[in-house]
Amino acid sequence: MHCHILPRVDDGSKSIEESLWMLKKEYDDGVRHIILTPHFRYEMFETPREKLEERFEELKALAEKELPSDLSLHLGCEIHTSMDMDECLKAGRRLTMAGSRYVLAEFSGNDIKLYIRERVEKLLMSGYKPILAHVERYRVIRDDPAFLAELRNQGAYVQVNADTISGRDGLGARWFAKKLMKDDLIDFVGTDGHNSKDRSPEMGKCVRQMVKVMGEEYARRVLIDNPADIIRG
Ligand SMILES: [Fe+2]
Repeated sequence: MHCHILPRVDDGSKSIEESLWMLKKEYDDGVRHIILTPHFRYEMFETPREKLEERFEELKALAEKELPSDLSLHLGCEIHTSMDMDECLKAGRRLTMAGSRYVLAEFSGNDIKLYIRERVEKLLMSGYKPILAHVERYRVIRDDPAFLAELRNQGAYVQVNADTISGRDGLGARWFAKKLMKDDLIDFVGTDGHNSKDRSPEMGKCVRQMVKVMGEEYARRVLIDNPADIIRG
């Protein structure tokens, strides 16, 4: 539910071939439903919605031909938060997650609590369900996990990257992810895969580590049941 597999729209996949490789990798790791979430960020990635949808249909058609039929693809967006994001969502200029009310919201690493709280509140008031993208990257959350609990009580959902959980992003990251899992502060996990090399999607490694630390029941809830809620709307 967080990846950059859609080709040539952001800093993710560079070609349709690379996208197919990534989809196949996800499938081999056991993934059966993927929400593609290209970046939208002012002055960096401003691909219009129509273009994303067009590219998505192309990839989907190819995946249907080349990959097993039980792999289903959906379109979403990782929206870097801005003051106009809720207006853009309401006007249909930005994509929610798979057509649901869930919105994958990205903050900058140094954003302050006041701003994060305010943006979350605005999305909630507008009837959206904000999912905080890769929370392990935000300084105020690493410094104070209680702030994450506060945001969750406010109504936000929490996403952590697969590489943080598996340890591929380092032992410090893995330790932090373990703490978040033990404190039951994680709602969703995404690969945040960007390519077929150093940032390939690695859900398999994450699943093994999660089951080892938390058991199968927990892994099922976070990796299957919760994201199914997004797809079901
Ligand atoms: Fe991302």
